[in-house]
Amino acid sequence: MRQVDLGDIQGPILIFGGAYFNLEATQALIDAANANRILAEQCIFTGDRIAYCGNPSETQNLLRDFGCPMIKGNCEIELAAGSDTCGCGFEAGSTCDLLSRGWYAFANQQVSANQRQFMGALPDHLIFTHYGKRYIVLHGGYSHVSQFLFPTTPDPDFIHVINEIERDFGAYDGVIAGHSGIPFHKCIAGVT
Ligand SMILES: [Fe+2]
Repeated sequence: MRQVDLGDIQGPILIFGGAYFNLEATQALIDAANANRILAEQCIFTGDRIAYCGNPSETQNLLRDFGCPMIKGNCEIELAAGSDTCGCGFEAGSTCDLLSRGWYAFANQQVSANQRQFMGALPDHLIFTHYGKRYIVLHGGYSHVSQFLFPTTPDPDFIHVINEIERDFGAYDGVIAGHSGIPFHKCIAGVT
């Protein structure tokens, strides 16, 4: 797994993920960052630019040209590898399973070789400090990129992820993850 150290980030940080090839929403987010004078280097993308929406190539290029720090999610990993599924591990026959078959096949047709190479070369984790605190950015879990962590996930699952991080990198004040699609905040074992 590849990790990139962003150093110390000053000022506000805009964290987003799951662009899902939604060109309009991604452009709106970049416009909001610009309107609030949040520089691209203060924005962090937590992965999964690929999913349900209809502008794979345009959204990928928009994110690339915006140039914010970003990691790859399971969708980038699978698309870069030329796989035939998004790697979410949805239950066979579930609504998510059926929908993902449709959007993944469409995205797989639309994305160029250069775009796959770009996505595959993205780091797995980012680390940074912000006002004296250390943060790590993951996609899903730490060792399991498509692990879903929801607000209802039992605390021991979060503690397991925290322990994995501390085993490899030492203590962190905060863990930032994407993938689940549900914004939430928890403080567990002293880690936010
Ligand atoms: Fe994901």
